[in-house]
This record gives sequence, structure tokens and C-alpha cells, in this order.
Amino acid sequence: MKIAIASDHGGYKLKEEIKQYLQERELEVLDLGTDSEESVDYPKFGYDCAEAVASGTADRGIVCCGTGIGISIAANKVKGIRCAVCTSVIMAELARQHNNANMIALGGRTTDTETALEITKTWLDTEFEGGGRHERRVNLLNSY
Ligand code: RB5
Repeated sequence: MKIAIASDHGGYKLKEEIKQYLQERELEVLDLGTDSEESVDYPKFGYDCAEAVASGTADRGIVCCGTGIGISIAANKVKGIRCAVCTSVIMAELARQHNNANMIALGGRTTDTETALEITKTWLDTEFEGGGRHERRVNLLNSY
């Protein structure tokens, strides 16, 4: 599985931690920046990561900013993207089971690294509960 990852300055350190975790799992990582804690604007990074997923360049995407909120809003502008801000393991689990989230957004200033890595692990390892009401609802999301 190939994972695209991106952040702004507020999520940079967390992005680097997650990238290391993904590489330890021998997943292919496409790092779309940013490359330091110098201030940048998060919309470009969220959008670029989402484009990589929507185009099939990557299978899934992870984005980080200070809270995960701004960069998730940017990612969700791209058709076919379902980017869930996750602050807990249960949110990551349900984002996969119910929403088939192909991206997650995490907050470098609001979520500690240990929790963020648990969230990432859960999101990677949880399957979508397709074939029923959740699939119908995700199809509706995709129709707009
Ligand atoms: C940047 O200061 C901060 O606003 C950004 O990282 C993010 O939290 C926005 O949602």
C-alpha cells in the first residue's frame, strides 16, 4: 500500500513521526511536504495529498496540521476524498468501518504522538463494512 502524507508547519513534527512508523511497516510513503517548521499555508498541502489519493497515485492519505481541521477541509474539497479528523482510536475505527475514510487528518498540537500512531495503526488495519447501509451512504457521499 502506498500512503501519501503531507502537513503544514503545525503538523510537521507529527508527519515525520508517522512517516517513520509507516516506513517501519514497510509501506511505501509519498511525502508531499512541508519540509520544516517554517510557516506555510495548509490548504495547498491538504489539497495536494488528496489529489494524490483521488488520482490513484497513492492508495490512501494522511494529513497533519495544528488541529487537523484546516487541512482536512482542504482535502475534502477533492471529489472522492473522505478525510476524517481523528482524535481517538475509536474515531479511526469508525472512520474506516462506516465512512470508508481514504484519508485521515491529525493535529500536531492537539494529539500526542503515541495516540496519533495508534490512530494511524487502527485506520490502516480496519476494513470498511461494505455491502449494507454504510456502503449506500458512502455511495451517496460520492454522488455529490
Ligand atoms: C497554523 O497556525 C494552524 O492554523 C494550522 O496548523 C491548523 O491548525 C489549521 O486548521
